[in-house]
Amino acid sequence: MPAPRRPLIAGNWKMNGLGAEAEALATDLARRTWAVGAPAFELVLCPPFTLVARVAAAVAGSGIAVGGQDCHTEEKGAHTGDVSAAMLADLGCSFVIVGHSERRADHGEDDTLVKAKAEAALAAGLRAIVCIGETEAERHGGRTLATVAGQLDASLPVGAGAANTVVAYEPVWAIGSGLTPSAEEIQEVHAHIRGELAKRLGTDEAGGIRILYGGSVKPENAAALLTLADVDGGLIGGASLDAGGFWSIAESCV
Ligand code: 13P
Repeated sequence: MPAPRRPLIAGNWKMNGLGAEAEALATDLARRTWAVGAPAFELVLCPPFTLVARVAAAVAGSGIAVGGQDCHTEEKGAHTGDVSAAMLADLGCSFVIVGHSERRADHGEDDTLVKAKAEAALAAGLRAIVCIGETEAERHGGRTLATVAGQLDASLPVGAGAANTVVAYEPVWAIGSGLTPSAEEIQEVHAHIRGELAKRLGTDEAGGIRILYGGSVKPENAAALLTLADVDGGLIGGASLDAGGFWSIAESCV
């Protein structure tokens, strides 16, 4: 029997936030979590590297996890400006996003590099959130399922399983655009991803892996998009910068 999948709501703050506002946002979410006790969903906040330590301190003891937005493939060395998975773990992170489309586009990251980063994350004891998703041209060309299957196959780390890997499906054209696929389209892609995971890892393991949807999720559409059969939570960008909105998205998932 596949393990039940606890919904995961991840806030990707991207390059946003300075100390005081970040601390206020994290503290607000920690208070809401304490007030509920043991929420049915799991929250992870992924602030910029500069804020990881402050956010980790603000949510300590609340059950909210902290993640990085990227990591290097190596544990340490001569890589100016980079941050390793071990460094993130050292700061209190338990997750890291790898292969976000903004990194693929802005920094030329390909599937091979994303896979290596995900493997570095696992080696450091972090859980990897591996991002995949088609462009607008790929969708219009009818290549959505083939694109995400190809990215998944080439980006998934060796050793991936339900305990250490999360997949995030983020159509590139839906990010920050206010556009989303229909609920039926999202479910179709997620079911396809789970089927591909099952081919590789077996049905039980694939049945336990959380597959998040990301791209223009807001409090208004969260219930419709994040409660589909193969959708196990969301990777939230803009709407994660508001505590009330982010919390309401999380509550919509259960
Ligand atoms: P938005 O929620 O702002 O569309 O961003 C989604 C995203 O890229 C999360 O990683």
